[in-house]
Amino acid sequence: MDHFQAHIDYPNTELLPILSAETIDFHYGKHHCGYAQKLNALSENTTFTDKTLEDIILQSRGTDPNVFNNAAQLFNHDFYWKCLKREQVQPVGKLKHAIGAQFKDFDEFLSQYKAFANTLFGSGWSWIVWEKDRISFVNTQNAETILGTDQKALCVLDLWEHAYYIDYRHDRPAYIQKMIHACINWTFCESQWPS
Ligand SMILES: [Fe+2]
Repeated sequence: MDHFQAHIDYPNTELLPILSAETIDFHYGKHHCGYAQKLNALSENTTFTDKTLEDIILQSRGTDPNVFNNAAQLFNHDFYWKCLKREQVQPVGKLKHAIGAQFKDFDEFLSQYKAFANTLFGSGWSWIVWEKDRISFVNTQNAETILGTDQKALCVLDLWEHAYYIDYRHDRPAYIQKMIHACINWTFCESQWPS
């Protein structure tokens, strides 16, 4: 069995109508699984053999871009799918309280996340993170990831074109709008709160 595998915990119809089954089939099957396959091939019989995904990301950052890009993309996609859900339940614990302390209300928090995500130039990821006792929004370019930084990732949106082009064509702002307002698993995001 391959050391690294891509994970998604629900069927391809789970996020209808925000994301089509075709989008999930292509995104997971072609892109996400592709990163896992490439990482398996790149790490075989190297110092990365038998390392955890997190260790590989930390050790290859800045030194081995090919390994880093595939490892980071594998981690980012695993995390992305977990952040998504159609039946939304708003945060009830520490995330709710942090939002209440920093934003006028939940809608204002969503609006600011949406506006920030729309500032990303090119391909990448838009994150909600917890850092220095504050919620922050962070965009990372290409495969770059929050893992291994001082920030704790709570949520991420994939802003690569392959995440939305089948359903939204060129209209990334429409994808961002739909995802943020109707497709985030806030219960999972809250579970990522640092202990
Ligand atoms: Fe992706």
